[in-house]
Amino acid sequence: MKNIVVLVSGGGTNLQALIDAEKSGIIKNGKITCVISSNPNAYALERAKNNDISTRIIPRKEYSDSVSYSHAILDALNEEKADLVVLAGFMTILDECVTKAYAYKIINVHPALIPSFCGEGFYGLRVHEAALAYGVKVSGATIHFVNEKADAGAIILQGTVNVENGDTPEILQKRIMENVEWKLLPKAVSLFCQDKIEIADGKAYVKE
Ligand code: GAR
Repeated sequence: MKNIVVLVSGGGTNLQALIDAEKSGIIKNGKITCVISSNPNAYALERAKNNDISTRIIPRKEYSDSVSYSHAILDALNEEKADLVVLAGFMTILDECVTKAYAYKIINVHPALIPSFCGEGFYGLRVHEAALAYGVKVSGATIHFVNEKADAGAIILQGTVNVENGDTPEILQKRIMENVEWKLLPKAVSLFCQDKIEIADGKAYVKE
């Protein structure tokens, strides 16, 4: 059974999808053992507490830079004996002290089809604002491993939705969450926990 540590910053609907998937048996061979929040007021913390999952708060605001913050995260991950780290709406870019120590063991959900609308500055609603401003007709979400560059690690799964006339960033965000993020993130976590993701040449392949 793999220890899954989930990092959050906000509402935590993706965390909820993971909790529900663990309960219903969609996630095989993995258990959410700790939720770490960069934001003391994140509603995601309530979701963890409501489900008897231990929580830690490591406020981003208390650290002067990304390196010192990342070292604090690294210490916590080591203490929690994390086998898998999931960034579920975690709004801080982690320094390489974490990404190197947990290479191919950190999974992120990004609310666009990487390599579009990704990288530094593209997070949350801003991603959907950019997609609508460009006028794309299809968007979606990407589940990928995390490496030293923002949103540049090996892609595990992607899913799409149509962009409709009259969409607002909020409407598009909701459609992508409901149809893609909440389904594919638990799926990728389950695949990882069952050792069904293979890495070759820096790319990720799902083993059937
Ligand atoms: C989700 O849409 C997630 O994909 C996005 O923030 C939202 C968090 O919602 N993540 C990023 O933009 C990371 N670059 P949640 O807290 O309800 O899961």
